[in-house]
Amino acid sequence: MEKVRIGIVGTGYIGNVHGQIHSQDPRAEISALYDIVPERAERTARAIGGKVCASRDELMENCDAVLVCAPNKTHPEIASHAVAEGKHVFCEKPFAIGLENARRLLETAEGSNNVFQVGHNRRYAPVYAKLKELVANDTPHSAHIKMNRGELKNPVWTGDTNVTGGFLYETTIHLFDMMRFQFGEIAELVAYGSTHEYPEIDEFSIIFKFKNGFHCTFASSSDASWHFPFERIEVFCHHRTILTEEMERLFDSRGFDHRTQNIDTYACHMLEKYEKWGYLQEDRAFIDSILEGKEPPVTALDGFKSVELVESVYEAIRTGEKIRFE
Ligand SMILES: NC(=O)c1ccc[n+]([C@@H]2O[C@H](COP(=O)([O-])OP(=O)(O)OC[C@H]3O[C@@H](n4cnc5c(N)ncnc54)[C@H](O)[C@@H]3O)[C@@H](O)[C@H]2O)c1
Repeated sequence: MEKVRIGIVGTGYIGNVHGQIHSQDPRAEISALYDIVPERAERTARAIGGKVCASRDELMENCDAVLVCAPNKTHPEIASHAVAEGKHVFCEKPFAIGLENARRLLETAEGSNNVFQVGHNRRYAPVYAKLKELVANDTPHSAHIKMNRGELKNPVWTGDTNVTGGFLYETTIHLFDMMRFQFGEIAELVAYGSTHEYPEIDEFSIIFKFKNGFHCTFASSSDASWHFPFERIEVFCHHRTILTEEMERLFDSRGFDHRTQNIDTYACHMLEKYEKWGYLQEDRAFIDSILEGKEPPVTALDGFKSVELVESVYEAIRTGEKIRFE
């Protein structure tokens, strides 16, 4: 069997994460690297191999699949280039910035005969896979969700809305995708936001109502410190709370007698980070989809819907109106 030849555009933090994982998959090989800062691609080549390319065109000539791992605003252009060259594409989140860019990229991706996968890694994290299993076997009523960050300083571009599209695109989008994955499609939302630490809206309170009647509150702050857990989902069912703490643990508490609480713990803290955070599984799934010709677990449409949610929350804050989805 021929190996899938991987090309990586953007060899910073996440490009190296995916590169290391693919370099250990016997079905794949790192064949081409391109970064606008050539020394970064050279450093990556020394660690995991691959030809350092002088341009994106040269990279396209030397791979079967492209990993789009440059900062947010570059994703649509790089991903569309790769589709046009007949490549399989793995596009990091966010799928795009802005609805128009997202719509255009969705059309491009859906017109491709190759795999197009979006990097919402948390869906594969064992804690969230376990949550989905528990939620699917119960009737969740409501939830409280939190997704915070300690700063918008590292990498430096995370504080520049011209690159990120805004904090919701950079961070919160992960759990926007997670809400759809766990609880279904959203019917309407109201949102409030304010500006404190950075020259953008950096603090959010949102209420979502889902098409199936489920509803949740959602808090997201960009300057909350890295207090553990910086992300958490608390789901409330019939005399039951299921609670996650980042991708470390899940607690499942049942019953109504306050003297004798029944709490099961599902602990993932001993897993290696790449598996605990779902990166390993998402990269394996990308190669599976290429080799087996099947749809990836996170599609371009999922990527589009997460952008649609981000834009709707910004619009709700701008207009003070409730946003309703068809
Ligand atoms: N799924 C996740 O958990 C996760 C985690 C981190 C980052 N990300 C996403 O991955 C992307 C990269 O983030 P990062 O933390 O690796 O950033 P980074 O700054 O560490 O790396 C980005 C790299 O891209 C290069 N670059 C910039 N513009 C380029 C271009 N036009 N063509 C080629 N290379 C270019 C930079 O020189 C840099 O080496 C972002 O969109 C970010 O949101 C996702």
